[in-house]
Amino acid sequence: MITNSDLKTLRHTLRDWRREGLSIALVPTMGNLHEGHISLLARAREIADRSVVSIFVNPIQFGRGEDYERYPSTLDADRAKLEAAGLDLLFAPNLAELYPGGIEEDTRVTVPALSDILCGEFRPGHFSGVTTVVSKLFINTQPDYALFGEKDFQQVMVIRRMVHDLLFPVEIIGMPIIREADGLAMSSRNSYLKPEERRVAAGIYASLTRAAEELRVQAQAIAVLESRCQEELKVLGMRPEYISVRNATDLTLPKAGDQDLIILAAAWLGGARLIDNIRVMLAQPLAGC
Ligand code: PAJ
Repeated sequence: MITNSDLKTLRHTLRDWRREGLSIALVPTMGNLHEGHISLLARAREIADRSVVSIFVNPIQFGRGEDYERYPSTLDADRAKLEAAGLDLLFAPNLAELYPGGIEEDTRVTVPALSDILCGEFRPGHFSGVTTVVSKLFINTQPDYALFGEKDFQQVMVIRRMVHDLLFPVEIIGMPIIREADGLAMSSRNSYLKPEERRVAAGIYASLTRAAEELRVQAQAIAVLESRCQEELKVLGMRPEYISVRNATDLTLPKAGDQDLIILAAAWLGGARLIDNIRVMLAQPLAGC
């Protein structure tokens, strides 16, 4: 496994691979790797000749008062996991490498259509931070494929839209959510949970699962279902930000004729912000809402 921390070396290595006709798959991460991340790498290795993982805790996607300063950094352990998983190249730049002009007046890439709803409503500027750093990574690695987890479903949608609009020659691959044994979606932020919080954290998945089953049976009761989910999370001691049923293809509110839906949730539990979602393919298109 090659480890690079500067763009110049990264570009050279990738140029050599491309000259040899090798295809490249990129998995962007912020480190503190778990099985969810490793599942993306495993798929990257199946579809491309060379795999690249980036580890960079991107300051501009964190809001004021969020966890940028305390985001867990475990580079040595991450490196060992990536090596064991057969990674070809780890790119772990520092701040100055990706933001040579600093972060205050940095040029931004924004996807207005999808960035201010759901998570974007509660984390203003978050998605513009994500699309900016992912653009920098795409431009400098020029991957054939880039893999993203559907735990962050809105993130995948925002990136797909960016790639479409900016004509990035890369295929975006969305990957299923990897969960703990009790159903909690794996996340680097789960380490913020105290033991008693961890015991109830999977309640978010349980609640979404029940809602998904009900939606399949009786698709009309969407508003009732959303508020019931909210109540269930509150009973567990969570502070829900949103529970929302959406059209899974464009994240708009469900309307007559829709069939491919998704229930998305974000809730605070202690110091951890948990997000999760379940996709629901209805047997019949919605009659009306
Ligand atoms: P990070 O939270 O480290 O996640 C890196 C990638 O792993 C993302 O595509 C995320 O959706 C995926 N992932 C995380 N948990 C997962 C799980 N349980 N199952 C499947 N995939 C999972 O997302 C980011 O970093 C950043 O926003 C980034 C895209 C790197 C830009 O800074």
